[in-house]
Amino acid sequence: MENKTVFISRSEAETEAFAEKMAKELPPGSVLTLDGDLGAGKTVFSRGFARGLGITEPVSSPTYTIIQEYPLENGGMLFHLDLYRIANSASALAFGVDEFIDDPECYALIEWPERISDILPPGRISVCIRHLSDTEREITCERA
Ligand SMILES: Nc1ncnc2c1ncn2[C@@H]1O[C@H](COP(=O)(O)OP(=O)(O)O)[C@@H](O)[C@H]1O
Ligand SMILES: [Mg+2]
Repeated sequence: MENKTVFISRSEAETEAFAEKMAKELPPGSVLTLDGDLGAGKTVFSRGFARGLGITEPVSSPTYTIIQEYPLENGGMLFHLDLYRIANSASALAFGVDEFIDDPECYALIEWPERISDILPPGRISVCIRHLSDTEREITCERA
C-alpha cells in the first residue's frame, strides 16, 4: 500500500469493493484501525474486507461482544474488534487484546481504536471514513 491514499466512494458497494481489494493486497499480520462517525461506513468497510479474505459469514459490528473472530480458509483469523465499551488499554489488556493485535497470521480491524491508542502496534494502517453526503464518503488510508 502507498503511504497515504484517499478514495472517494459513491456508494456502499464502492466502499465494500475498495475494502475487498485492500484485504487482498495486505499480508497476514496487518492491523487496521477504523475511524469515523456513527453511520460513516465502518461496518460496510469491514464486510468488504472480510469478503476480500474469503470470509462468507455475515459480518456485523461486535458492539456487544467486543470481539468477533472469523476463521480464514488457509489458517489464521480475521479479528474484528469494537472497543466502544472498553474504557482504556488497561481494561483492554485485561481481556487479552494483545493476542488479537499482535498475531502475524491474523488480520485485525479495530473500531474505536482511540481507547487503546497507547498500545496500538507500529506499522498499522489507519482508515478514516468521512461523511460527504448521503451516498458519498471520503476514505483516507495511512500508515501509522
Ligand atoms: N459510500 C458509502 N459507503 C459506505 N456506506 C454508505 C455509503 N453511502 C451510504 N452508506 C450507508 O451508510 C451506512 C453505513 O453504516 P455502517 O457501516 O453500519 O456505519 P458505522 O459502522 O460506521 O457506524 C449504511 O446504511 C450504508 O448503506
Ligand atoms: Mg458499525
